Amino acid sequence: MSLIKDGEILFAGHAERYSKQKNDWYNNKEIILDALNYGTPTHIAYYEKPQLKRSRLILKGGSGDWKPNIPLDLPVKYFKHHYSHAAAGYYTSSFKDAVIVVLDSIGEYNTSTIWSGEENKIKLKYKQNYPVSFGLFYSAFTQLIGLMPNQEEYIMMGMAAYGDKDKYYRKVNEYFPSIHSQKYNFHRGITDWGWVTEQDKFDIAAAVQFVYELRLAEFMNMAKFITGKNKLVFMGGCALNSSANTMLWRLFNDVWIMPNPGDAGSSLGAAAALYGKHIKWETPYLGYDLGGKYPVNEIVEGILKDKIVAVATGRAEYGPRALGNRSILADPRDPSIKDKVNLIKQREPFRPFAPVIMEECASKWFDMNFASPYMQYTVKCLQPEKIPSVVHADGTSRVQTVNRHQHKDLWRVLNKFYLQTGVPVLLNTSLNIKGQPLLNDEKDIYEWEKTYNFKIIR
Ligand SMILES: [Fe+2]
Repeated sequence: MSLIKDGEILFAGHAERYSKQKNDWYNNKEIILDALNYGTPTHIAYYEKPQLKRSRLILKGGSGDWKPNIPLDLPVKYFKHHYSHAAAGYYTSSFKDAVIVVLDSIGEYNTSTIWSGEENKIKLKYKQNYPVSFGLFYSAFTQLIGLMPNQEEYIMMGMAAYGDKDKYYRKVNEYFPSIHSQKYNFHRGITDWGWVTEQDKFDIAAAVQFVYELRLAEFMNMAKFITGKNKLVFMGGCALNSSANTMLWRLFNDVWIMPNPGDAGSSLGAAAALYGKHIKWETPYLGYDLGGKYPVNEIVEGILKDKIVAVATGRAEYGPRALGNRSILADPRDPSIKDKVNLIKQREPFRPFAPVIMEECASKWFDMNFASPYMQYTVKCLQPEKIPSVVHADGTSRVQTVNRHQHKDLWRVLNKFYLQTGVPVLLNTSLNIKGQPLLNDEKDIYEWEKTYNFKIIR
């Protein structure tokens, strides 16, 4: 749920952080009340067209008794699913003139769309409809290797670094041979693969990621060709694939991915679509407010002494990544810190941890000539021996860059650590109880401290 006024974002949050149910699709009383703390809405904008969606659900063999989740009794305007994605991206970008690409599993019918953004107008230039879908392809293979589709795609992406892509490249490619065709409707999953062993899973993940990137590059080149534009806005759940996103900087002069590009960020898109103009994007810290002053000194002292701290303060991040306000921060120089953090997070040992770095130092430590303030790009680490705990098996890291404007106090934390150690990098991972959404409020802090017997700095 998002609340905007005169082009300013007053609140943007996630229902899951209030209900504590991961990927919760439904608004709840708590998030509504929190949003109302920031203003009183006059209109509601909704991110899908109910009629259209129902007709597709019926076509697919469902009952079609689906209803939109409208929280308050106010005039409602509905926008198409992909249009909401496009608006969320374009209207929060700094671009007047851009090509907008939306790739997800499925909207009402659209699965892949290309739009032009010019002088605040968003116009459709190309569409691909269900069942050919980048998202459904990726999710079907996620399910094939034993993970949860529409939820654990990021785990498959992490597994790709451990696999041999060549082993299954040809076979996987047959399932998605061109951007206009796929072997069959992936909504029913992969039905004709056969037996999948444990090592197969990593090799399949590597091949799927590789084929996805090939098709993505083809699609992006088509988008560039159709619109003649060289600034890209990329949205939809597929824009969460940080390994694939990096190539976009080679194809376009500038790239904007709104930090919450999946359906969880569509409320902001619908609101912006109703406003019909660019809105001010200044910060991703737009959710529940814990208040307090950022505990810069306590964090640095804690990391130097204990190697690992947990911090929760200020407003919650909008989007899937912890960007410093609900984070575990740790010393990236210590190779054993990965195991210690994993012990707290209780997650698969192959999953990588991300680094946060002072923006001015980023190109010395990572192969990048762009900023990555929202952990959206995976790049090669140039000094892996110095920060082993934040480098993945394939030598890459999903980097968050921080400058003074973006989060002054997190930048100060990094700068102080840098002055003490010569390393301007920390490990940054989300603060959550295993299987639960990112920490949100005081109640979560209490639960987390009790569960892990670890004090959170606030
Ligand atoms: Fe979507």
